[in-house]
Amino acid sequence: MSVEIMDKYYSTRGKWTPMQKIAATNLQPGMVLARNIFSIDGVLLLSAGTLLTTPQIDRLRQFNLTSVYIKNPFTDSIDYSEIIETIPEIVREETRVQAVQIVHSAFENFAANRKLDTQPFKETADFIIDEVIKNRGAMIHLTDIRARDGYTFGHSVNVCVLATFTGMQLGYNLLQLKELSLGALLHDTGKMLIPNEILNKPGPLTANERKIMEQHAEFGFDILRHQSEIPLVSAHIAFQHHEKFDGTGYARSLGGANIHEYARIVAIADVYDAITSDRPYKEGTLPHEAYELMLSLSNTHFDPRILKIFLDQIAVYPLDSIVKINTGEIALVVKVTPGLQTRPTVKILFDARGCRLQDGPEVDLAKHLTVFIDKIFSPVQVLELEMLQPKQAD
Ligand SMILES: [Fe+2]
Repeated sequence: MSVEIMDKYYSTRGKWTPMQKIAATNLQPGMVLARNIFSIDGVLLLSAGTLLTTPQIDRLRQFNLTSVYIKNPFTDSIDYSEIIETIPEIVREETRVQAVQIVHSAFENFAANRKLDTQPFKETADFIIDEVIKNRGAMIHLTDIRARDGYTFGHSVNVCVLATFTGMQLGYNLLQLKELSLGALLHDTGKMLIPNEILNKPGPLTANERKIMEQHAEFGFDILRHQSEIPLVSAHIAFQHHEKFDGTGYARSLGGANIHEYARIVAIADVYDAITSDRPYKEGTLPHEAYELMLSLSNTHFDPRILKIFLDQIAVYPLDSIVKINTGEIALVVKVTPGLQTRPTVKILFDARGCRLQDGPEVDLAKHLTVFIDKIFSPVQVLELEMLQPKQAD
């Protein structure tokens, strides 16, 4: 790799900021933002590092944000950022915001004049591929955050990122990545033809509404296959992304190898993003729960071979998580290794008696097999833990 490419590679990796995702309803004055917050049209609302005040929290709620990232208070008092091993995110926040913005306006244009301009999607897929290739050492850490109204667009971009990343793990060449990435970005195009009251219904759908909703797969295929610049196989991703490995999905009840491999990948990315995203009516599933849930659908919903490759890249206990281990100690996750994500390295923060340690030992769970993680603290529980007056151990 040339120096110039190396520079470009490292500059895209970004510095890891210890952070916790928190539901917007749980925000409190005095918390510090860990990430920039953008509106759906890409305008910066508040920058990382902002100490939140009540008016700012009200403003964020007005923008319908479901969740935001705040700094982990444990890493504020002591600089753990030095010891937390940096693994890049798959794509930078700026890339994601830019992609969501482009996809949003391209879909709006389509809704207004029923003509799909494919160029913005092709360009977006290309720059996502470019960045995923540069960040090939990345892991799936966190899902992004998005405004309620922007769910579909944020979801399309996330599914594209996750699918492209999985395609790269499968050793796809550039042409294959382009076909996959474009189809993933456009997988829900058919939803543009589904009535809004069904699409945005907060509660469960009736049997009839579900039938209408399920038509989005075929609608998407119909729109995309008439676009000469879209490869037919990418249109088939839209058609097949709700098929299940055991043949019980829709639109055509295909199973196993009859489902195109690209669609088998997108099915995994689609469900993972859907269950881990915060929605207006429910908070997203935590990564370790999502991991178990996805695993339980191996062979029935998902192709087990591709699912394993995907799951191996998820940081089940993301860096900076606070966990309780079976010794009764409370610890911070400081290192995660792909393939060994259920056995991270942790640094002890509180001993078994609840005494705060200023410089506790590190324990590599991959080497200490009798030690395991009992529970992961939610961001709110972490704040409660921090509010307990820290006692110093002798
Ligand atoms: Fe879909």
